[in-house]
Amino acid sequence: MSDIKKIKREYLEKLNRELNQDSINQIKTELFGKNGSISNEFKKLGSVAVEERKKFAADLNLVKEELQEKISKKFHELEIKEINEKLKNEKVDVTLPERSFEQGKIHPVSQVIDEISSIFSEIGFSVEEGPDVENEYNNFTALNTPDNHPARDMHDTFYLDNEKKLLLRTHTSPVQVRTMLKGKPPFKIIAPGRTYRSDSDQTHAPMFHQVEGLHIDKNINMGHLKGCLNYFIKEFFEVDKIKMRFRPSHFPFTEPSAEVDIGYEIKDGKIVIGEGDKWLEILGCGMVHPNVLKNVKVDTSKFQGYAFGIGIDRLGMLKYGINDLRAFFETDYRWINHFGFDPLDVPSNYRGLSR
Ligand code: DAH
Repeated sequence: MSDIKKIKREYLEKLNRELNQDSINQIKTELFGKNGSISNEFKKLGSVAVEERKKFAADLNLVKEELQEKISKKFHELEIKEINEKLKNEKVDVTLPERSFEQGKIHPVSQVIDEISSIFSEIGFSVEEGPDVENEYNNFTALNTPDNHPARDMHDTFYLDNEKKLLLRTHTSPVQVRTMLKGKPPFKIIAPGRTYRSDSDQTHAPMFHQVEGLHIDKNINMGHLKGCLNYFIKEFFEVDKIKMRFRPSHFPFTEPSAEVDIGYEIKDGKIVIGEGDKWLEILGCGMVHPNVLKNVKVDTSKFQGYAFGIGIDRLGMLKYGINDLRAFFETDYRWINHFGFDPLDVPSNYRGLSR
C-alpha cells in the first residue's frame, strides 16, 4: 500500500473516534504541520519520477482535501454538541414565580429639576447644560467679574489648580456664557445643574443646585422678566395668586439687578406660599450687563435681555416640606423612601426600598 493510502486510512480511522478540540488540533498538526505526514509527502514530490508525478500529486491532493474536510466536520460536530449541552443545562423554567425586586425612588432634586424644566419649556425655553468643572473665565471674567472683584471671594470658590484657572463652578451663570459663545441670538434657555461653594450648615451644602435662565432678543425688558418669574412661581407652587417683590440688589453680570422675594405665611406649622406678610428670598435676577453681552460677541445695539438664577434645593425644600438641606445629600434610604418620588411606571411586584 502506498504511503498516502496508509496515511489516509490511519487518520480517517483516528478521526472517526470521539475527539475533543485538543485532540483534533493534535491530528491537524500531525498531518499538516511543518513536519506533518501530508506535508512530508508533498516534499517528496520533487523526487518522484516524472511519469508518476502527476498521478502522485493528484492522489495526494485528493487525500489532503478529504482529510481537511473530515477535520472541519469534526470541529463542527463538536460545536453543535457543545451548544446542545448548553441548551440542555440552561433550560429556563418559565413556570417559576418571578422574583420581586427593589426599585429606587426619584430624588426630590431630580423631581424638582424635571418640574422646573417642564414649566419653562411650556413658555419656549430650551434646556442647556454646562460642565461642573469650569474655567475661571466663564465662571467670573466673562460675567463681568474681573480679578480682585469682591464677588470672587464671596463665592468661596473651590479652585482645582494653583493658578486659579480651573474651578468647580460656583453658579450656573457660566452656562449663559457658553450658550451665547456657541450660538447666535435670540437665546431663550434655562440651565439646571450642580454648583459648588465651600460652605456647610443647615441651609448651605458645599454642593447644591441652581437653575439659570437667560432670555436675549430684540426689545426684551424687565416687564418680561417679571411676567416670566410670576408665571413660573405660580406654576411651580401650584397656586393661582402669589405675592412677589423685586428688591434692588447687585450682581456684576446684571444691571439693574434685583432679588425676588415671595410672600408666605405659616399655617398649622406649614409654610403656605402666596399669602401672608412674610417674605422669602428665592432668586437673583436682572437685565444682562452690556459688558457680558460684549464679551460673548452679542451686538448690544440690537439685543438685550434678562437673566435669573434660582436655588433649586431651596425651592424643593419649600414645596415638599423638607427642612434640612444636608439631608438631600446624605443618601439615607429611609429619607429617600419618605421624600422620594415614584417613577410613572411602577411594576406590580415592586415592594419599595427595604433597607
Ligand atoms: N449667579 C448668581 C448667584 O449664584 C445668581 C444670579 C443672579 C444669576 C442674577 C443670574 C442673575 O443670572 O441675573 O448668586
